[in-house]
Amino acid sequence: MEVGRGAAVLELGCGKGDRLAALAALGVRPVGVDISAVQVAAAATRWGSTVEVHQADALHFLSHTSDYYDAVYSAFGAHWFTDPDVLLPAIRERLRPGGTLVLAHLPPGDRIEPDEPTVVRSTLAMVLRWEGEAHQWASLLRHHGFVAPSACAILPPHGARTERTVVLRSRVPARPPRTAQGTTTPAT
Ligand SMILES: C[S@@+](CC[C@H](N)C(=O)[O-])C[C@H]1O[C@@H](n2cnc3c(N)ncnc32)[C@H](O)[C@@H]1O
Repeated sequence: MEVGRGAAVLELGCGKGDRLAALAALGVRPVGVDISAVQVAAAATRWGSTVEVHQADALHFLSHTSDYYDAVYSAFGAHWFTDPDVLLPAIRERLRPGGTLVLAHLPPGDRIEPDEPTVVRSTLAMVLRWEGEAHQWASLLRHHGFVAPSACAILPPHGARTERTVVLRSRVPARPPRTAQGTTTPAT
């Protein structure tokens, strides 16, 4: 699904809402959710009514909204701090057929065994995070019914002391097409 003008896009863990504001400028209808009252207040001060930001835990928000989204994303946001076996099904519920999910985070470094079958819980500097290499996230996404997961790494500028950013993109299956008899054929 292409996310163009008028698309409804949800950011989980939106912080001060900078990405949402950029999307608003492109004609997208951006909605953000962040658990931190401080971040939500900062988003309101910085962007006013340009962006719609809710103060809530991402999982709680997804479980209580009746809205559907064309795309959901989390950039170093809630997916990093929430059990993905609980969060991914909740995201799936609120994505329109064919809708896109994008997750961005730092790689796990040497804390994670690359032959682990899936994303695992780890603690770094007292912060609980769910971490994995791109292939581990991809396998978890498939397990929860997302299709066509793909990953890319964005490298920091030469000499920078930051790590690469891993970006995963996936989508929920499109609704199966109707046949002439009014029945449906299975999604791939
Ligand atoms: C590292 S910041 C990233 C903020 C923003 N995405 C950005 O890139 O500028 C992580 C954000 O996720 C929010 N967050 C963490 N766990 C969350 C949860 N369970 N539900 C909603 N927001 C959460 C934090 O309050 C924080 O604003």
